[in-house]
Amino acid sequence: MRKILVTSALPYANGSIHLGHLVEYIQTDIWVRFQKMQGNTAYYICADDTHGTPIMLMAEQEKISPEELVEKIHKEHSKDFEEFHVNFDNFYLTNSPENKELSEDIYKALFKNNKILEKEIEQFYDPNKKMFLPDRFIKGECPKCKAKDQYGDSCEVCGSTYNPTDLINPYSVLTGASPIKKKTKHYFFKLSECSDFLLKWTKSGTLQKEASNKLEEWFKSGLADWDISRDAPYFGFEIPDAPGKFFYVWLDAPIGYMASFKNFAEKNKISFDDYWKNNSESELVHFIGKDILYFHALFWPATLEYSGYRKPTKIFAHGFLTVNGEKMSKSRGTFITARSYLDNIKNPNFLRYYYASKLNDSMEDIDLNLEDFLAKVNSDLVGKFINIPSRTSGFISKYFENQLVPISNIEDEKARELVLGIVNMKDLVLEHYELRMFSKLIKLLMSQVEVVNEFVSLREPWVLAKNENQHIVNSDLHQICSTCLHAFRLLSIFLTPIIPDLTSKVALFFKETPYDTFSNIEIEANAINKYEHLIQRLESKDIEGMVDSGK
Ligand code: 2FM
Ligand code: ZN
Repeated sequence: MRKILVTSALPYANGSIHLGHLVEYIQTDIWVRFQKMQGNTAYYICADDTHGTPIMLMAEQEKISPEELVEKIHKEHSKDFEEFHVNFDNFYLTNSPENKELSEDIYKALFKNNKILEKEIEQFYDPNKKMFLPDRFIKGECPKCKAKDQYGDSCEVCGSTYNPTDLINPYSVLTGASPIKKKTKHYFFKLSECSDFLLKWTKSGTLQKEASNKLEEWFKSGLADWDISRDAPYFGFEIPDAPGKFFYVWLDAPIGYMASFKNFAEKNKISFDDYWKNNSESELVHFIGKDILYFHALFWPATLEYSGYRKPTKIFAHGFLTVNGEKMSKSRGTFITARSYLDNIKNPNFLRYYYASKLNDSMEDIDLNLEDFLAKVNSDLVGKFINIPSRTSGFISKYFENQLVPISNIEDEKARELVLGIVNMKDLVLEHYELRMFSKLIKLLMSQVEVVNEFVSLREPWVLAKNENQHIVNSDLHQICSTCLHAFRLLSIFLTPIIPDLTSKVALFFKETPYDTFSNIEIEANAINKYEHLIQRLESKDIEGMVDSGK
């Protein structure tokens, strides 16, 4: 059996979880649940990304300490994830003692390996606020097109990128003051010396094709040394032997994967080394958005290599989320938070199902078209999937004391084929899960759901039920309804990583405990509980409410 440590990118602790974030957490959660149901040891590890200037300034604005702010956000995030059934084995904080110790140790190892360079640089400084300004906190006129109020790194009008020092009439976003240029000593990780290692590593089958292509572009333009330090005031970890200098948030964030795992491992008596020592046999899998590929496919493996740790086995990058074909936008009400979804739509199964129906192994963007969302979840989940028990279980309860005909006693050839056909889909289902071809998987399973519904329509149990001869055990009516319910149960087991909450209700309906292994396919249920509605239709007014509340 495999041993797999799986991570999703760490959300920043200065904002709410939104539907864009959830693409990744749902994708990863499905994959981890699948691994667990197959009997593999898989741990899903995450944490809040708590350091950096924006978090420090937000706390200042709210007149609380950064520690208090991140604790508050951590509680919110934890609740959002839980209610979307994103089942982390550990959801921690990067501002932790484990992370401090690991970050310091890794830095010291890099230093010892001669991979750290000290260099004096010139940066913008806000003389009123008495702090160096990150690019995002400086605005001014675009040096190319002269558009006003553009950020320090790129122009939203003409799209050009530049250095903040190129801006015309720059000003500090914090105080409006004209920033002055000031010299300061910074620490750099010598990424330029890591190209040989990285070239080899990136060809080791760790990345998707599209990601490798992107990397090749970066290699061609040459790898620059990476500035890993920031000056005080900064919310983060102070660099050993460098008073007033702090690790840049992106240095300690991925180390947060290790630190969260360490915290989990210690609590659960699991060996940290089994998952992090060099040449470890376990797998390390990172799910990320394509925007942070540079950090995960270059900085991170190089950091691990030169501090003596194992490297990632796989990096799975996904695309961005668009809503109704466009970037999420507050004015259109499509910047939708997890909380707003939960308050208005309530049922997380719908979003999990819809995302799965769109996701595959590529870095393409995925679109949440709200009309399509409504139509698809109502048609697939309510109209087709849940329609199976709602059309057939009543007869089992009314005439057969809730007992099902065992599959081996089903004489009707077509009915047996129907059930065994689904059992035999197992390998293909598992392959689609493993390769993250969730959209293909949903198509496959939904086509079977349709086959079962066609079978019901053809055999018309409601017509059979009018004939009293059909009310005896093992009659056609009993066999047909049992067939449909066996099929429904099998399809539910297959769908469990995607909609675990809905299928746990299905398990209860079959008098079983929630499906936690695909071996459930090999056994069968022999009875049901009286059917109660498992899902409510999604109403367009709920979607409208969600959009309105986001405006
Ligand atoms: O881009 C982001 O939202 C970062 N907070 C992701 C960090 S992932 C990891 F490396 F820690
Ligand atoms: Zn411009």
